[in-house]
Amino acid sequence: MVVGIGIDIVEVGRIKKALKRDRFTRRILTEREEAYCTTPMKVAGRWAAKEAVIKAVGVTMLMKNIDIWNDQLGQPHVTILDPNFDGKRLKIFVSITHEKTHAAAVAVVERSVLQIPMA
Ligand SMILES: CC(C)(COP(=O)(O)OP(=O)(O)OC[C@H]1O[C@@H](n2cnc3c(N)ncnc32)[C@H](O)[C@@H]1OP(=O)(O)O)[C@@H](O)C(=O)NCCC(=O)NCCS
Repeated sequence: MVVGIGIDIVEVGRIKKALKRDRFTRRILTEREEAYCTTPMKVAGRWAAKEAVIKAVGVTMLMKNIDIWNDQLGQPHVTILDPNFDGKRLKIFVSITHEKTHAAAVAVVERSVLQIPMA
């Protein structure tokens, strides 16, 4: 069952400015995200996705502890790296979009329902 939803939108221009700051990407992106996000638009997509995930799970965590990776089809998947996050039975889905000026993302958290065997 769905237990959380989150959404975020960000201006690519804001991210472009932030990228001029030392270690900005290092602070918010995992290593594989850094390798993947070669444009401000892609970084903005990650930023929006991580904000959306935080809203959906309902707990704050470092952006760097949220790893969003793309499979062979390009579909993004979420892995939470924060050791304090109890993600048992939780599945997080994310969808990202970006245009020249803005990036946005939506996240949904699903919790698997325990099947109690009937006597
Ligand atoms: C996947 C697709 C719909 C993306 O749409 P788009 O308008 O080009 O681009 P958007 O800005 O809206 O979205 C880009 C984001 O879509 C996501 N995306 C890419 N491929 C995806 C896929 N197969 N499934 C889900 N999400 C995907 C990525 O997160 C990407 O951002 P990122 O590379 O920064 O992580 C488009 O590339 C497409 O039609 N591909 C061919 C058909 C296809 O594979 N469809 C998959 C769904 S059935």
